[in-house]
Amino acid sequence: MKQIRLSLLGFGVVGQGFVELLRSKRELLQQKYDLDVLLVSVANGRHGFIYREEGLDPELLLRLAAQRKALTEYPDIRHWARPLDGLEATGGDVLAEATGTNLQDAEPGMSHIRAALSLGMHVISANKGPAALAGLELLELAREQGVQLRLESTVMAGTPVVSTVLEGLAGAQVQALRGILNGTTNYILSAMAAGREYREVLAEAQSQGYAEADPTADVEGYDAVAKTLILAALVFGETLKPSDVARQGITGVTQAQIAQAAAEGKRIKLVASLQRENEQGPLRASVGPMALPASDALAGVDGAMNAITFQTDTLPAVTVIGPGAGRLETGQGLLADLIAIARSQRVES
Ligand code: HSE
Repeated sequence: MKQIRLSLLGFGVVGQGFVELLRSKRELLQQKYDLDVLLVSVANGRHGFIYREEGLDPELLLRLAAQRKALTEYPDIRHWARPLDGLEATGGDVLAEATGTNLQDAEPGMSHIRAALSLGMHVISANKGPAALAGLELLELAREQGVQLRLESTVMAGTPVVSTVLEGLAGAQVQALRGILNGTTNYILSAMAAGREYREVLAEAQSQGYAEADPTADVEGYDAVAKTLILAALVFGETLKPSDVARQGITGVTQAQIAQAAAEGKRIKLVASLQRENEQGPLRASVGPMALPASDALAGVDGAMNAITFQTDTLPAVTVIGPGAGRLETGQGLLADLIAIARSQRVES
C-alpha cells in the first residue's frame, strides 16, 4: 500500500472538514485506492505547528477542535510556534494548504506553498489568495521542482470544475466563461428572492460556514474576483490583477430590484465573466449583479450552489453546477486532489 505523509496548514472550517473526510474515508482510501494517508503535522495561526512522526489521529484532532482546546494539548508531539519553521523542519510528501484567504498579499499561504514546493512536496490548496495573485508563477515553480500543485477546491469548493476544464475539456479551446462563483452571495440573493431580509440571511450564511472570516470579501465581490483571477490563470493562461476585474458586489441590490426582475421572469445573480473579444484581443473580466432570464443555465442555481458555463470551440456550452462553499464540500476538493496525486505517482513509478 502506498503511504502519503501529509502536512495540513490551517485547521479552521476547511481544514477540519478535510480531516473529517480523512477520518471517515480511511477504509475507502485503503481499499479502493490502496492509499494510506498519514497526517503527520497540523498547524493553525493561534497554536502553531504540531508534528508526530507516527501520525496524528484525526479523531483526537477533531475532538480538540470541538472542545476549543489548543492543538498543543495533543500528547507526545513536537511543536513549533511558526508553521513555516515546523514545515521546513519536518517536510512530508504533500502539503494541504487551508489557511485563511488573504487577497492583499496572500500570506501566510503564499510562503507555505513556496516553501513546500521548494522542499519538493506536492501541494493541494484550498487557499484562494496564492492561486489568485500568483497562480501561474506557483505552477511554474511546481513544474521546475517536478511536483504537482493542485487547486480544485479554490473554485466552486469540491465541485470538479478545475479538473473539468484542465482534464475533461483538454484540447477544447475555451473562448469565454460565465459563472456564479460565490456561495454566500448566491445564498443571500436566493433567500432575498423568497422575500427574506439581507441581514438575517447573511448571518445564516456565516453560521453555515459559507462566508469568509470577513464577509465583506463575499458581499462586495472580492471573493468572486479572486476566483475569476484563478480561472484567468488556469483556463486562459493569463495573470490578471484584482484591479483588472470590473467589480460590483451585492450590497446595493434591493428587494425592489429583485421583485422587478421576478416580475419580468428573471433572477438576479452575482455573475463573474471572462471573455476575449477576439483571438488576439485582451481578456475582459468582470464580477457584478445581473438579471438573468429563466432560460439561462445559471438562473435556477440557488442557495450556496455555484455554476460555471464554459463556451468552447468544440462544445458550445458546458455547464458545471454544484456546491460552492462549506466544510465537507471544500474538504472534498482537497481529498480528490490528494487521490489524483497518489494515482499519478503510481503511474509514474
Ligand atoms: N466564502 C466563499 C463563498 C467560500 O461563499 O463562496 C468558498 O470559496
